Formats: sequence, structure tokens, C-alpha cells
Amino acid sequence: MPIIYHENHRLFEIRTARASYLFGVNDAGTLQHLYWGEPIHAEEAAELLKSRSHSSFDAAVDRETEEYGGWGGASYAEPGLKATFADGVRDVRLIYCGYTIEGADEDGEELAVHLEDAQYALRVELRYKPIHRHDLIERRAILRNGETSPVRIEQVMAALWSVGRLPDYRLTHVTGRWAGEYQLRSAPLTEGKKVLESRRGFTGPHANPWFALDDGSASETAGRVWFGALAWSGNWKLALERTTFGGIRIAGGVNDFDGAFALAEGETYASPVFVGGFAAGGFGDMSRKLHRYQREEIQPTRAPRKVLYNSWEATEFAVNVRDQLALAERAAKLGVERYVVDDGWFGERHSDRAGLGDWHVNAEKFPNGLEELIGAVKEQGMEFGLWVEPESVNPDSELFRRHPDWIYRFPTRDGTQLRNQYLLNLGKPEVKAFVLAFMTELLSNHDISFIKWDMNRTVTEPGGGESGADETASVWIRHVEHLYEIWAELRARFPHVEFETCAGGGARIDLGILRYADQAWISDNTDARDRLSIQEGFTYAYSPSVMMCWVTEAPNGFNGRSLPLSYRFHSAMMGGLGIGADIGRWSAEEMEAAARYVGVYKEIRHLIAEGDQYRLASLRESNIAAYQYVDADGGEAVVFAFLQAQSFGGTERRLRLRGLVPDALYEVRGDDGSPGFVRHGSTLMHLGVPLALRGDDVSWLLRVKRVDATAAN
Ligand code: DGJ
Repeated sequence: MPIIYHENHRLFEIRTARASYLFGVNDAGTLQHLYWGEPIHAEEAAELLKSRSHSSFDAAVDRETEEYGGWGGASYAEPGLKATFADGVRDVRLIYCGYTIEGADEDGEELAVHLEDAQYALRVELRYKPIHRHDLIERRAILRNGETSPVRIEQVMAALWSVGRLPDYRLTHVTGRWAGEYQLRSAPLTEGKKVLESRRGFTGPHANPWFALDDGSASETAGRVWFGALAWSGNWKLALERTTFGGIRIAGGVNDFDGAFALAEGETYASPVFVGGFAAGGFGDMSRKLHRYQREEIQPTRAPRKVLYNSWEATEFAVNVRDQLALAERAAKLGVERYVVDDGWFGERHSDRAGLGDWHVNAEKFPNGLEELIGAVKEQGMEFGLWVEPESVNPDSELFRRHPDWIYRFPTRDGTQLRNQYLLNLGKPEVKAFVLAFMTELLSNHDISFIKWDMNRTVTEPGGGESGADETASVWIRHVEHLYEIWAELRARFPHVEFETCAGGGARIDLGILRYADQAWISDNTDARDRLSIQEGFTYAYSPSVMMCWVTEAPNGFNGRSLPLSYRFHSAMMGGLGIGADIGRWSAEEMEAAARYVGVYKEIRHLIAEGDQYRLASLRESNIAAYQYVDADGGEAVVFAFLQAQSFGGTERRLRLRGLVPDALYEVRGDDGSPGFVRHGSTLMHLGVPLALRGDDVSWLLRVKRVDATAAN
């Protein structure tokens, strides 16, 4: 029974495996947040519900912690709900009026707490779905307009999270830009507000809707961490507000900026899910909870990622059947399982200046249609995958010439072009129908098993093109809703096809799109060293099981850095392995070594797909980065270690492993041919493994396998 209502105290208790979340109804009928942290005896927290004494200068709402409040009365904090009623009243007072619990067991129970404005029939249902085994709660808010006239909704947050008083607060989040996504940042939160948001129409590379909060002392392996992630791929906002009374509250949901909309009589609006969690074992514990949640509750498929080859970096737009056939033949020799043709196969797409929107196979590039290539790819035992960017259009395209009114635009403005393209207004039913139709045709007419769905620009001039139309929020929200609906429909129509989310690199990855995407392209930056920090930041919030990584050229175009093939493979093997190099130019030795790495990857990828990840060392703290993946019962692990630069002779360093069984015996073996050894789990975890790394930019893959009798039984 993870959800308990203590009637005598009017107290709600949400109990997960290792956390308690408590809130109650106070004398004034408002919901008060009481506690979130390690399990406690709920009824002993009831005293917190009493009004706290305060001066007559301060309003009670400033001192107390509303579980979810409206903008009204003396409430100045970031509101859950801001609305204007038809009579012009712009004041929302939410009063508790009951609850229901749906579902019955640990996995299915969901609490709905019903609130209603004191005067108007505007109802809010706060939903709480505990994910018991991972100490998470999925929250969302559902609005119902029971008035006889429309209500203008100016802000509606999915949830407000509160963390009890801490002496200090530190926010950890990610930031970045194209080719530099998921850079981790930590900073103290002082009084005032820190807003992380996107106004770009998609999730964005500059920020991501995930946060972690601690008192400044948590580490990778210890300390209390509160965290959350919003499942929304459009404009989003997380506002973290620290009050002068020492409280903190995190409001998250669809961004209210340019976001007001009318909720018609009888209409309902459901916010996206904002999942929150508590971890007592530091940032590593937090990430593993999020990873397991994604694997078990979010990801549409759980099988390990197929090894893919993608021709983008090899050919860019210069796609033609002859070169593709040659690349496919080489890819098959490496053990590749999925051959993907990227941008450039369709319309007059010879550069990023033309063709986008014209989703028919270019007959000069493929005189015998796509089938010739697909046939060869399949004959060589691989699946065929294709790149698309359905939401975009080049002005120089048949589609734009036919439908200039399909793009986002304002009637008196020239549209902004980014990457020489406009964005289609996917909110329009005819545009949604077009995308669904051409994708259906593509997937019906060709034997395609994989789609890489790209989106290479943000939304600008978010209008429908008509004079006097007031679309505002409905435009922002509808684009995302239609996108989700299209993906859901395509998945239903073509259950054998897997999908990758991509947006000019990793600009559309969040718990919303990950419900539909099997895998995610996290950055166009394929420099294996830069990738370590991009991948590390990504795994704070998201599971390595969906994280796609390619081995590409040396020197790499981004930094001109030449890294050994082993390093490039080790870096890319920590997620879904792909190869994106011009393998036509690889020597026989490189081909042979690459095939060996692909073989090793196939042996360890179940650990990437289903194992727990431990971040053992980070380049943010030293010249070593190391990551371990271990299966659920500690029977098998793989470790990747990277040394950036050796200096002053270096001292011997040991890597302390995690997640093993202390008394079990393990064989430890590198992939470099060095002799293995056998040690107890306790020795490997506490004394550690000597790191056999010397030099600059060198790496090591270590396999750890239980070999004692217990494992054999
Ligand atoms: C951006 C993607 O991130 C790349 O991988 C590639 O698909 C290009 N778009 C193609 O235009």
C-alpha cells in the first residue's frame, strides 16, 4: 500500500521502497507539503500541519509550504496555476475537496487529490503515481473548467516539489549548445529564482528539463539528493525558488511564456508528467534510479541496441548507390547489424539548401530505387535504416512551393530561416496528416527497420499565418501533442520499426519523447574525448541503454584531435555502439581491430542495456575517467577507463569497483591481451584494481566475471 490517507490527521503518505512523501490538509483547507526524504512514521509529522507563528506583516502562505497553489491572495511564489475568469477576476484560491485512489497494488496505485477554486468551478486534480521500487513519484495536474464560460489559463505547472529546510541548497543541471550538449553544472541556490527553460519549441541543447538538488555536500557515492525530470519535448520551464524564509520549491511544467490559452466550458487540460525522486546514496544512486525507471517504465523496447553504421560523416549529402553499396559491404565485415543512410537520399537534397520536404527517392542517386541498396544490405545480414526530418522544409522544395502556408509564420513578417529551412506547423491537422501519410508510405513501400527522426531547427514566428488569430499556447502545445500522436501511430502501424530521436544532435531528449524512441542521438560531436563529458552529463538524467555513440575518424573534425581506435571504440561502447567513419578508407589492420571491438561489444552490451552504471571517476575531477556497468546480481561487470594525460611519472592508481558481491571470486581481464587475475569482490571494491594506463589519451576495457562455485550453480 504505497498510498495511505491518515484520516485523523488529514494526512497523505506516499511510501516508496526507501522514501516517504507527506502532505496534508490544514485548517484553512489548503494543501501543505510536509516532508520528503528517508522513510519516517507519517503521523509523527502531523504537527507540521499546524499554522506556524509569524508576524502580522507576513502572510501565512509565505511561511508555509503549499503543495500546489494558485496565484491569488498574498501568494507571490511561483504558482501552480494562474488564471483569469470570464468576469475579469485574476485570483485563484484552491481548496481541498477530497481524494480518490485508483489501482490496487504497488505498481498500479495512483492518488488523485481534488481541489477547486473557492468561488468558481475550476477544478484541479493533482495526480501522484508512486513508482515504488525506484523511489519516484510521477506527478501531473489535470484542469477541468466547470464554468459556463471559458477561463484563460496563464500558467499551469505539472507539479510543485518542495524540499525541507536545508542549511544550503545546490542545484545540479546540464547546459550546452550544438556539439557540446549535456555539460554538467553545479551552483548554490541563493534567495531568488533560478529558471531553467526552453522557449525554442523543442527540448533544446542549451538546457534539459531535469534537476538535482542537495545541500552542497552530496557526492557521487553519498548524500541526500532530490531530483526530477519533466516529460515534455516542447517549451518547458523549471523554476527553482528559494524564499527568504529558507524554503525551496521547484515548479515545473509547460512554459507559460507566450503560453496563455483559453480552456473552454467543460474542457480538460492534462499537464505532462513531472517525475520526482529522492536518493539517499548520492548522485550515482539518483542516476541509477532514473535509469531503471526509464528501462522499466519508459523505453518502448528493452533489447540491447543493434550495432549500426551511419554514412553521414563519410558522405554527408553526396549520397549515391555505388558508394553506399561499398560502405555497406565494409560495414557487414565489421559485424554491423543495422545500416543507416542519413540525410541526402531524397528530392534535390545535395546540400542543406534544398529538397527538405520532398520525401521521394532521388532517381539519379538511386536509379534502381532504394531496393537495390536495401536488398544488398539485407543479403549481408544487416537491417536497413533511413534518416528523415519530417517537421522541416527548405524554401527551395516542391513541398514549400505547393504549401507555403504550412510553415510557422506571422502574416507581416518574413520567416527566420535556420539551416536554410523553415519549420512546418505540425499543429495544423493537414500538416500532421501529410507527415503521417508520407511516413506510412515510406515504411510500407520499403523494407525499413529503423528511422532516425531529426529536427534541425527551433520554432520561430510561432503563428498560423492568419491575421488576427490568437493561437499562442495552443500552437506550442499542439506541435508536441501531434508529434507524440504521429510517433504513437507509426509505432502501432509498424511495430517492427525502431526509432531514434535526434535534433541537430541531442536537442530533443526528455522523458516525453523517450516513451516513443528506442534510442537517442545525443550529440553531433563525435570526438571521443569530448564525448566522455557529453555522455557523463547525459547519464546523470538518462539511461546509457538509449545513448547512441559513434566511432568516427582520427583526426576528428571537431577538435582536430587524433585518438587511437581503441579509445574511440571504448568511448562509444559505453552506450549503443555505432560506426560513423569513412570505413572505405580504413586499413586492413583497422578493419580487423574494429571487427574485434564490435565482437567484444556484442558480448558486453547486455550490461549496457540492463546493467547498473557506476561513475567511478570523472575528468571533471582528475585526469582519469572511469565507468562501470554491472548486472543486477553482481555476477558480471565491464569497466571503461580513460587517462587524459600522464605527467611527473604518475603514481600507481587504483580503481575501486562497485556493485560486486564481497565474498565472491571474480576473474578480471583486460581486452588488451594482458594476463587476467582472480580476486574477491571485497578486494576489487575496497583495495581496487591497479590501473594499467600510461601515456596520453589511453584507455582500457576491463571485464569482470564471477567465477566461484555460487555463480556456477
Ligand atoms: C543533424 C544530425 O544530428 C546529424 O547526425 C545528421 O543526421 C544531420 N543532421 C543531417 O542533416
